[in-house]
Amino acid sequence: MCGIVGYVGGQSALDVVVAGLKRLEYRGYDSAGVAVLADGGLAAAKKSGKLVHLEKELAERPLAAGSVGIGHTRWATHGGPTDANAHPHLDNAGRVAVVHNGIIENFAALREELAERGHELLSETDTEVVAHLLAEEFSSVGDLAEAMRLVCRRLDGAFTLVAVHADQPDVVVGARRNSPLVVGVGEGENFLASDVSAFIAHTRSAIELGQDQVVELTREGVVVTDFEGAPADVRAFHVDWDASAAEKGGYDHFMLKEIVEQPKAVADTLLGRIDASGRLTLDEVRIPDAVLREADKVVIVACGTAFHAGLIAKYAIEHWTRIPCEVELASEFRYRDPILGQRTLVVAISQSGETMDTLMALRHAREQGAKVLAVCNTNGSTIPRESDAVLYTHAGPEVAVASTKAFLTQLVACYLLALYLGQVRGTKWGDEIRAVVRELARSGEEVERVLETMEPVRALARSLAHKDTILFLGRHVGYPVALEGALKLKELAYMHAEGFAAGELKHGPIALIEEDLPVVVVVPSPKGRSVLHDKIVSNIQEIRARGARTIVIAEEGDDAVVPFADHLVRVPATPTLLQPLVSTVPLQVFACELATARGNEVDQPRNLAKSVTVE
Ligand code: AGP
Repeated sequence: MCGIVGYVGGQSALDVVVAGLKRLEYRGYDSAGVAVLADGGLAAAKKSGKLVHLEKELAERPLAAGSVGIGHTRWATHGGPTDANAHPHLDNAGRVAVVHNGIIENFAALREELAERGHELLSETDTEVVAHLLAEEFSSVGDLAEAMRLVCRRLDGAFTLVAVHADQPDVVVGARRNSPLVVGVGEGENFLASDVSAFIAHTRSAIELGQDQVVELTREGVVVTDFEGAPADVRAFHVDWDASAAEKGGYDHFMLKEIVEQPKAVADTLLGRIDASGRLTLDEVRIPDAVLREADKVVIVACGTAFHAGLIAKYAIEHWTRIPCEVELASEFRYRDPILGQRTLVVAISQSGETMDTLMALRHAREQGAKVLAVCNTNGSTIPRESDAVLYTHAGPEVAVASTKAFLTQLVACYLLALYLGQVRGTKWGDEIRAVVRELARSGEEVERVLETMEPVRALARSLAHKDTILFLGRHVGYPVALEGALKLKELAYMHAEGFAAGELKHGPIALIEEDLPVVVVVPSPKGRSVLHDKIVSNIQEIRARGARTIVIAEEGDDAVVPFADHLVRVPATPTLLQPLVSTVPLQVFACELATARGNEVDQPRNLAKSVTVE
């Protein structure tokens, strides 16, 4: 989605803003622009395409030097990715510049109103109306922050806005509703950005902005109010990601770096949540134990990979707590008129914390009286802020659009939540919880072991780069893993890939099996639920008998699969419910390598954005 950067301080605004936008490229975009205040005026440049096009424009037509400025990378919603539609947008006098992330739902009426008052709108965007409205309000109140408050009160929809005015050259003003904006607090300089990645090279002191707030930045300080002008409470926090963490660290792609960061991400997500006696101490789950004890249903809402994490969490929650657990696609959830109440615990899983489908689902749940717990990787983001409690994953910045380490840490967080519910409700004894916690504590090392044996998986991926279809099968918790493996291949290799519950084969999908069709099969532990193991071995025989090329993910020591596996990928033996922590990793590596072999852009696949902040 769109990336936003604002700066006021002593450095070159252009340098700070463009460098910040580069850090936000992972959000996906198709045009970019900047505006700088200098010499009593305002100068702007914007270009469709990637930042390199804007930098070329700036080299050919440099802007006046200034130390106050804003910038934007746009993911087109209203109006195509053209120069005219790129942000920033200016008023007709060229005195106001504004950048925006989100959708202004009442922009059409506002456009008509402005045109009737003689404004000439030059783009197809919803955003441009804000530049003209700010110019009007500023001319009557003479203060950009107040003008912003007046304008925000007229806007419907989701927006993060950041603006400057040539007549107030030492100020940057921002506003947010349903869309991300964080403040970076420096020494004699201050920053605004869509997320902390844009300014962590300068400061790690940040302030998260809340719903319907306006922020005014000067070199001296930060003032936050609500849309009515009343002072607003905000939470300052320390960004514990250092600048290098958001760099590629020597890997060709962020995704590769993030795959190998998984052991640490898993370990970090466990840190501080288990006391010396093995009891869970989830202090940030600020929902009273009594409420958790009374919960009669858990509903998980999420999208994409986070949804697959929810499907796995369901098995753990129901097995360890005996509470019914539903898992819902967030985009479908509120439209099916779900049955929710005071005793429903809704779990919103989101890496970015900004996915609009998930945000709207949790809003609906809260309106119905449910308690909402967020499982999120991004401190200061909207979903945890609008939830009753949050269980943060500690995967660190996940820059690649294809989610990997965030997924594994979502699993860890959900396992912890399920155990915590069991602990609070007394459905799991202390020693049982400690046994699972010990296994969880080893999972980082197990993932490390898997990563050390991935070369045959990479070679296999390269050998299949010419294929146009690959199927994925699994049973029990292996079924969501099959779905996740298919999603990775779809979004990275642009290949048709589909995940099935292996037991469903005979109900239709087996008709897809043909000679040399690659089929990945995630085999459950032969020890835990061995009946499932035997059934999936039969499934492997069925597809192989019909010509499939079988790629089998199975535990070390599982010899029953050997006669039927054309390619065998070994993972460490783990307890049944925890197996996704190790069986997912080969599928991530497989998809990444196959995409690379196809020459695809791995970190920013076509058509995709890291955080989908529109419904
Ligand atoms: C997965 O690789 C994709 N990036 C996508 O499915 C993602 O998981 C989904 O959009 C949810 O994002 P979130 O976790 O930030 O809410």
